[in-house]
Amino acid sequence: MSWIPSLVNLFRRDADYLVGLDVGTSRIKVAVGQERPDGALSMIGRHMTESEGIRKGEVQDQKRACDAIARALREAEENFHIGMELVELAITGAHIAAETHTGHVGVRGEGGEVNDADVQAAKDSASSCAQLGSDRTMIHVVQCGFDLDGGLPLVNPVGHLGNSLKAEVHCIHGHQGRVRNLPNCLCSKVGANVEVNEVVFSGLASALAVLEPEDKQMGAIVIDLGGGITEYVVYRNGAPRLSGTLAVGGEHMVNDLMVGLGIRQRNKARKLLHEAGGVMVEPEDRGREVVFSRDEILGARQQVYFLDDIHRILHERMDETLRIIRDRIFARNASGFDGVTVFLTGGCARLKGMVTLAQSIFDLQAKTGIPTGFEGQEDLRSPEMATAVGLVKYAHAQRLAATKRKRGMPNLIGRILED
Ligand SMILES: Nc1ncnc2c1ncn2[C@@H]1O[C@H](COP(=O)(O)OP(=O)(O)OP(=O)(O)O)[C@@H](O)[C@H]1O
Ligand SMILES: [Mg+2]
Repeated sequence: MSWIPSLVNLFRRDADYLVGLDVGTSRIKVAVGQERPDGALSMIGRHMTESEGIRKGEVQDQKRACDAIARALREAEENFHIGMELVELAITGAHIAAETHTGHVGVRGEGGEVNDADVQAAKDSASSCAQLGSDRTMIHVVQCGFDLDGGLPLVNPVGHLGNSLKAEVHCIHGHQGRVRNLPNCLCSKVGANVEVNEVVFSGLASALAVLEPEDKQMGAIVIDLGGGITEYVVYRNGAPRLSGTLAVGGEHMVNDLMVGLGIRQRNKARKLLHEAGGVMVEPEDRGREVVFSRDEILGARQQVYFLDDIHRILHERMDETLRIIRDRIFARNASGFDGVTVFLTGGCARLKGMVTLAQSIFDLQAKTGIPTGFEGQEDLRSPEMATAVGLVKYAHAQRLAATKRKRGMPNLIGRILED
């Protein structure tokens, strides 16, 4: 679809806006922010539209996906009276995988003082352990921490004296073609004058949106429960150590309702999920009836259900999803999760009973993850906006790091995702 000429051309086109674009399975979310003169992030607003051509977080029908993205960007520009030049783009999919690696190098800085080149060499040594196949590409190498000669953990070892520098990095990678599908769709097919600045793993973006530095230090598990895919990221001691995806989302629950209750139309089942959805079978729901008309239900199936039957169906799906994620997280590091908090983001975090269910499955405290760390715009403080807001925060942190570099201050780029 060509970029439909609109009032957009009359608007100010400004690379200063920080734009997060989250093309989800269910909805496209655009978040727009701006850096204030004092350096703080101020959010301008959000725009949300129906998504099309996306399945399990990936492009399935390029034409429909491109049209939907073009529409979302055009409407966002019109809403906010701005012209967008650069966007940070969220990327997800079942092909994304991650591991944490360590690498060692001898310190070569003058007089045994660690310099930037040593830090880079240690990180390269760690990330080279990832040994990606020829069809894989690295999306992020996030530095987790360093130590010198086996001493205390260091966030930034530059200037410290020692012989052997160890770096730990969290590597997130994906299938080469599938990583490029969405940015490719945006750059060459959408027809907008919008460039993708960076692609960021959706799970990391959501974590960036909702976690305070203390949460990352104490330990946090961020689970983004979307329409077609669920991402998770585990932070320990200030940095991400484990992340991944599970190709299950709210659309599976919509399917379950259709099959379980015999609902004919997907839209009707989706509406039921949003308006009456819950994942705990509560005594107060017993006896509360949900009545369907004859034409909403297949054949001779019953037309009256109790709310607790509906919640039982949804419970099964979400219970299984969270258990799979818990087993993956705990299997690699079964001990030491005391004090860790589970943060639930994404549209399905709105389902009644989600926090209680997560608490009981993980045996940890849990809460709904609400985007934080910016001024203004209350409508951005909702769990489904986490990924898009995280992208804006990522762009903002990148800009701050570039400014500091220009002023000769330490390079913080590698720590954007940790701070
Ligand atoms: N109360 C609710 N309001 C809106 N959506 C809800 C609600 N409860 C559950 N959902 C579900 O949340 C999902 C949408 O969430 P979200 O916008 O985070 O997904 P997405 O980013 O489009 O998808 P994905 O990340 O899987 O690609 C849908 O499956 C929707 O049915
Ligand atoms: Mg999503």
